[in-house]
Amino acid sequence: MQSIRGTKDILPQEIHGWHIVEDRIRYITSLYGYRELRNPIMEYTEVFKRAVGEDTDIVGKEMYTFPDRGGDSITLRPEATAAVVRSAIQHNLTAQQQIARVYYSGPFFRYERPQKGRQRQFHQFGCELLGASSPEADIEILTLAHDFLESLGIKSRELHINTLATPEIRQLFKQELISYFTAHLSDLSEESQSRLQSNPLRILDSKHPGDKALSANAPRMQDMLDTESKDHFSKVLSHLNSLSIPYTVNPLLVRGLDYYSHTVFEFTSTALGAQDALGGGGRYDHLFEHFGGKHTPSIGFAFGIERLLLAMSAQESISEAPKPEIYVIGFESEESRRAVISCAHALRTLSGKQVIVDVQNRSLKAQMKEADKLGVKQVVIIGPEEALHDTCIVKDLSTGMQHTKSMTELHNMFS
Ligand code: HAM
Repeated sequence: MQSIRGTKDILPQEIHGWHIVEDRIRYITSLYGYRELRNPIMEYTEVFKRAVGEDTDIVGKEMYTFPDRGGDSITLRPEATAAVVRSAIQHNLTAQQQIARVYYSGPFFRYERPQKGRQRQFHQFGCELLGASSPEADIEILTLAHDFLESLGIKSRELHINTLATPEIRQLFKQELISYFTAHLSDLSEESQSRLQSNPLRILDSKHPGDKALSANAPRMQDMLDTESKDHFSKVLSHLNSLSIPYTVNPLLVRGLDYYSHTVFEFTSTALGAQDALGGGGRYDHLFEHFGGKHTPSIGFAFGIERLLLAMSAQESISEAPKPEIYVIGFESEESRRAVISCAHALRTLSGKQVIVDVQNRSLKAQMKEADKLGVKQVVIIGPEEALHDTCIVKDLSTGMQHTKSMTELHNMFS
């Protein structure tokens, strides 16, 4: 039996990197006052259809959707923002003009073709700032994301940023794009031809060479911006300048989800290959209304944790997993074994250090060999003689020095 294609077991030897990322998530979010929201991993299909958009790849081709035994259509979450908004409305998280700062991390599901950095079950860490429309809210989210990547030591990265303005302007822009691309229909890729009417914005971020060449000369949203959108975007950029956070304005950045307006952004890394987005996000000022809630302008981002780990290991910024510090070695006698177990138990409780004991009744030599292999600093040896006198031999494996100690002395040494 094998795991499902596009899913991965995260093995004990890989988990240290995950723990580093998870520690950083808790640390950085606490600095900014974000609290964790844990949503179910499945929702009614309607939640994603309504929020992400029926014409997107995610909803159209990638969702794990199935009828449950009661006949309801259920979807394994492909992203979190829709579910966060659903639960914010359900639990009144932004009642009385309050804002909510939330974060999440966990598994997500998209039926995509697996490749490096792309899985069918993957993990995201994301933050959402609900209920604030100011450029300062955008900057809070952008600096949080920036600080997080800095704290992980991911250097080879770029921030791409764009504005998608208001829904009205986007509608006009879509019409312009449809006219432009229709005039060059035969040069468009098959996929883009099929998207032309339903989702012309996505043609702008197509990787197909023909589409790319056409997009380079396509009409630009920048030329159609209203004063408010222009003002908002320039304030965001000016804050980024003041904070010395480097960025590139990328007019072709449109994102693959329908709920965005105004600021959108993506962090990319050259360490990743074809799937080069570490994470992305943007403002979604009208999503609450889509769910029947009141107007609640919001902004957020999500990073793919597997991709963060790929970027970190490409530049070797994952520190080594901590090694066990003490190995308590026993002999075959009953007294020795008993003394080893109670000594190891006391050391763990007193010192908080990682203490290993043999549980396979192996020889002294085999235990020494294992202690060495594990990279243990100190071994504590309790033979029948030591067990009888409540003593032990402490050996430092790096210097080879060893001393006999009473159990009280040993406890004092490590507490
Ligand atoms: P997204 O760009 O669809 O945005 O996903 C965010 C990140 O999740 C991607 O940049 C990538 O790192 C990771 N990711 C997505 N699909 C896969 C996959 N199949 N395998 C591995 N990693 C993947 C969103 O999901 C939005 N909800 C972000 C957001 C939050 N916008 C506002 N708030």
